[in-house]
This record gives sequence, structure tokens and C-alpha cells, in this order.
Amino acid sequence: MRLAVVSETFPGERRVAIVPAELPRLASAGIELWVERGAGERAGFPDAAYRDKGARVVETREALFEADAVAFVRAGAANPEHWPEDEQRLREGQVIFGMLDPLGDPDAMGRLAERGVTAFALELIPRITRAQSMDVLSSMATVAGYKAVLLAADALPKFFPMFMTAAGTVPPARVLVIGAGVAGLQAIATARRLGAVVEAYDVRPAVKEEVESLGARFVELELQGEADEQGYAKEQDEAFLARQRQLLADTIAQAHVVITTASIPGRKAPEIVTADMVERMRPGSVIVDIAAERGGNCTLTRAGERVEHAGVTILGPINLGASLPVDASRMYARNLANLLRHVVKEGELVLDWSDEITRGTVVCHGGRITHPRLGGEPPATGGHDGDDDNGDSAQQPAASPSGGSAQEGSA
Ligand code: NAI
Repeated sequence: MRLAVVSETFPGERRVAIVPAELPRLASAGIELWVERGAGERAGFPDAAYRDKGARVVETREALFEADAVAFVRAGAANPEHWPEDEQRLREGQVIFGMLDPLGDPDAMGRLAERGVTAFALELIPRITRAQSMDVLSSMATVAGYKAVLLAADALPKFFPMFMTAAGTVPPARVLVIGAGVAGLQAIATARRLGAVVEAYDVRPAVKEEVESLGARFVELELQGEADEQGYAKEQDEAFLARQRQLLADTIAQAHVVITTASIPGRKAPEIVTADMVERMRPGSVIVDIAAERGGNCTLTRAGERVEHAGVTILGPINLGASLPVDASRMYARNLANLLRHVVKEGELVLDWSDEITRGTVVCHGGRITHPRLGGEPPATGGHDGDDDNGDSAQQPAASPSGGSAQEGSA
């Protein structure tokens, strides 16, 4: 399989989908890498580093898209402004890998299906143990949680740690993290390392132990949220959210920094911090809302902007992964290479529809939507289905990597 790595086109994007260090692992799966000129430069990986590992550097995007498969960081609905140019370069039987924001714009996925493309949406990697090493959302949430704390520390007009100096004692900053998923837990750990006193809240009471093991206090409310079978919080109704706001108001008022990370996959982020609550915070306090791209957890958040309200700074950073492109690219590339090694055998894409990872990640194949969350249905396998095997039953050779029409049938 000839796999092409693009130079990303999303505004401000600095990551690259594959870094040179992954080439030997890809080569051993029969994957030959093509890389667009300059693709890794903004992440600190020059063309020469790819060439040294055996990649072919391709001068133009047109030539690049002659490859059998194309790897992106942001594609489809995750790159709305520039995606149309690439979309029309895709041909039947071609395979794409990337963050596609499939639930954010199902129509864009419909168009991909019509082109006969096989698309892997990396955000949909199932939350199962076997797929943890492929989970780009966890990797990018790690970056976002870490970076959110640094942004907060930079914007806060006081120290994070407690200092006992000849000039007196400086009390530590109080940080509240709302949403203790992957990003929230990383934010807690980072704020603790900087010496803040940290509290955290999540609708899933199961995270209490993890919060405490990081040295933070878990804020318990007389409210019980639920998680779905994927480990995600379920969407709560407005009555629940209203009660939650009421119970959280005092804790928020006492914080110097509030980091909000609460989200529900494919939905607008829950509104947790209102203007009234912000007005009760001390002047100089900071809110970093990393749910900004999904509408924000604070009603005053504006995605990509800095808002000042009643002396409080509200930051709504977007695409935080791109702000740490070296390690974010390394993590993304390792996740993607692990997925590639899972679905490419001796240079051929093999779609095993009995495999939960394949079924859960491919959004379209063979001219139609195959993902249940987009109203599609994966091709029938007749084979055994389970999460505990590597599923070599019911394997079907996928679209011919050289771009022929999609084939189905038993291997
Ligand atoms: P996320 O980014 O979708 O949500 C962040 C957090 O917000 C979650 O902890 C959620 O419970 C919380 N939240 C939602 N609504 C809220 C509200 N109204 N108030 C307060 N908090 C609210 O979630 P993320 O970080 O992507 O993952 C969630 C969980 O999934 C993880 O903590 C873990 O248990 C599980 N997971 C499993 C993996 C695996 O087994 N491969 C990999 C990654 C995560």
C-alpha cells in the first residue's frame, strides 16, 4: 500500500499525521510512505528526516493523491474550509485516515461515500482496551489538558504554588477542573505539578478515585450522572444541568482558575458556567474552556477568542493539539500506525467486518455509509463477533489499494 501524508491545510494546524520514526513499523506491514513536500516541517520533522527513513517526498498535492491511501490529521468536516479541494481529488477505492468530525457533519460523510472512498474516522476508535493504543482522542485530550493549565497560569495575575518568602507567604492558586475525562485528569496532574490546590468535578462518580489519586479533591454533588457502554457520560437533561449549576456555583466562585472539559461526543457541550457565576468570581480569575469548539461549557466563551467579563478572563482555545505539534504529532502518528498495522496485512487493506475496531472506525465503504452512528450498517460477516480476539474470521479484501472498485467476498 502506498500511503500519502499531506501537508495539513486547516488554518493554524502544525501537526503531521505520520512522523519519520513510524516508517520502519509501517514498512514491516508492507506500507510504502509518500510524504508531501514540507508536510512535517511545522512539527519539526523536515523532508530529509522522512527521506532518511525511506519515504518518497512528493512535490505536488495532485501527485500525492495518486497514492492508494491518504493520511490526514484534520480532514472532512474537521477541516471545512479547505476540505472541498481535497475531496474532489479522491477517487473510488481510495482509502483515507484522519479526524473527520463525522458526527459534526454527517452530510460530508455522505459525499465521501458517494465517491466510493473507504474512510476511517479516527475519533470513532472504540473505547476498548485493545484499541487504547490507537485512540487519538485520548492523545489529543492529553495535550489539551496540559496546555489548558499553562494558558491559565500565563493569564492568571498570581502564582500557582504557595511561596513562603521574606516578603511574606503567597497562598496557592485554587483550580477547579470540571470534567475529569482524559483532558481533565491531565489538567489536574499539571496544575498539581505547578503547586495549585486542585478540585475536580465530573458527572461520572466513578472518576472520584482517579481524581483523588492525582492529589485533587473530588467535588461531590447530590446528583448522579451516568455513563454509556463506551465509558462516555450520557447527555443530561436541562433540569439536571440547572441543579448542577446551582450546586457548583459556590465552588466556582472560590476558584482562581476554572478549567472546563465537559463534553458529550457528537453533541453540543453542556452549559455549566453562566454569566452570573462568572460575576461571582474574583477579578483576575481565569476560565479556560477547552470545550470551546463544541459550543463551550461557559455561556460567555467564544471559540478561539479571549473574553473579559467582570474582570474575569475567559479563554476558548481551539485545536490545542496543534499548539504542541512535536509531541502531538508523535502521539497521533503512533496511534495511526497502530491502526494501520491492525488493518493492513502485507500491504493490502483487509476489512474484517467482524472486528469491532474496523466496524467502529470505518464510516463509509463500497459506496455507502457503514457506520451505525451515521445511520449505516456494516456489511454482514456471518462470522463470530467479539472484542476479545483479533478476528481473523470473515475477513474481506477491501478496495484494491491501487484504486480499483471495491470488492467484497470471503478471503
Ligand atoms: P469526553 O471528552 O467526552 O468528556 C470529558 C468529561 O466530561 C467526561 O469525563 C464526562 O464524564 C464529563 N462530563 C460530561 N458532561 C458533564 C457535565 N454535565 N458535568 C461534568 N462533567 C461532565 O471524555 P473522554 O475524556 O474522551 O473519555 C471519557 C472516559 O472514557 C474516560 O475517562 C475513560 O473512562 C474512557 N476512556 C476509555 C478508553 C479505552 O478504554 N480505550 C480510552 C479513553 C477514554
